[in-house]
Amino acid sequence: MVASGSQTSDAAKTTVIGGKAYQTDEWDNVSPTINAAIGRQLHLRKDHPISITRQIIESVFPSPEYKKHNTFFPVVTTEQNFDSLEFPADHPGRARTDTYYVNKSTVLRTHTSAHQRDTFRANESEGFLISADVYRRDEIDRSHYPVFHQMEGARMWDRTKVPNGDIAAAVWKDIEALPRHGMKVEDPNPPYHAERNPLQDAHTAAEAEAIAAHLKRSLELMVVEIFRRAKASVSKDDPAAAAESLRVRWIEAYFPFTSPSWELEVYWQGDWLEVLGCGVINQKIFNNSGVPDQLGWAFGIGLERIAMLLFEIPDIRLFWSKDERFLGQFHGVSDDLSKMKRFVSFSRHPECYKDVSFWLRSTSNAAGGGTSINTQEFHDNDVMEIVRDVAGDNVEDVKMIDQFAHPKTGRKSLCYRINYRSLERTLTNHEANEIHASVKEKLVAQFGVELR
Ligand code: DAH
Repeated sequence: MVASGSQTSDAAKTTVIGGKAYQTDEWDNVSPTINAAIGRQLHLRKDHPISITRQIIESVFPSPEYKKHNTFFPVVTTEQNFDSLEFPADHPGRARTDTYYVNKSTVLRTHTSAHQRDTFRANESEGFLISADVYRRDEIDRSHYPVFHQMEGARMWDRTKVPNGDIAAAVWKDIEALPRHGMKVEDPNPPYHAERNPLQDAHTAAEAEAIAAHLKRSLELMVVEIFRRAKASVSKDDPAAAAESLRVRWIEAYFPFTSPSWELEVYWQGDWLEVLGCGVINQKIFNNSGVPDQLGWAFGIGLERIAMLLFEIPDIRLFWSKDERFLGQFHGVSDDLSKMKRFVSFSRHPECYKDVSFWLRSTSNAAGGGTSINTQEFHDNDVMEIVRDVAGDNVEDVKMIDQFAHPKTGRKSLCYRINYRSLERTLTNHEANEIHASVKEKLVAQFGVELR
């Protein structure tokens, strides 16, 4: 694994991330594996499925109305990532178990929304799209990876610039100019709801309804385009699959940075699939960005999930593969989207399950008495992180399969089952055993667990 560039000295510790030096403190939990992923820029790599997915979505949002921002730096302040978006102080997303911290006030962005406020403040265009890599400590399986890509979109209107200051009229006029689509949309809820999905004090009902209508039509058009492409790529060899008709539905949602808010779900291969989150932008964010006369909508969408269904890619690790058997299947697509086709899996290698069981350190022997940040409760994601660091992409999934507390001592025992499987080659049992032994060693060294 590539070294993170951490240097330890008595006075202050620094780490280099993406070529920049940062002071670290006891909050630092950015592992070498994560640091090595920074800078891969899959969303900008020609002919990479993440980049192709970005291109397809961008094609629905015309320039210069929507300015595209694709190179924002992944290290941001907690103020940008959380406070600027009106996250409450105790929001779980801030937890060190879920978020990569460089130091107490610096994180790897957990979402592209981290750049909303600064982009409103820069005020360079009526709308924008921001594509970027985002980072979250998470479980390990075929659809979760600690680095993934999102796209953020927003469209704003300015009370001082629209005729007669009539935002609703201006927005409806813009809706008239949008293309129509024939897709079946289920939208059973009212445009806002006092308890479940409130209108903001700063907005009239007419304004919020117009903005929501523009938002919904714009995102429906995006989904139509994505699924038109998905079907075209499948229909080359499976015309029946292409005939399946598209259904979407709007669900009420909650985000600190929008109200009212929604999620869009698509009926895909027999299940309702959550595709994106969106809503009418919290007016406080505009006020704090120095543009209090603006209002508008925003959305955020995960690019891996869309790419997985566009190309039928079965495992999220494949996006990080440098294997030509993967990358070679997308050659020429960035320049000609009609060349898109479904991904053809190369041979699956055998799985290799290994279990690890251990007793957690009882809190009474925790060094330092449990007040330090390093003696916090043991979290699932701590196991995930160690496995990622030791096994890299040779791990397919990790599941907790058993837990119990000792009836007398109350001490907790956990058992995890790790599936070691490479996408690229067959791992020997000997290799898997060696990786597994290092995982165990690290669990003991970092968390003081007692192996059983
Ligand atoms: N940032 C949200 C997430 O990562 C996604 C999102 C939801 C973005 C609603 C938005 C929005 O801009 O309006 O889950």
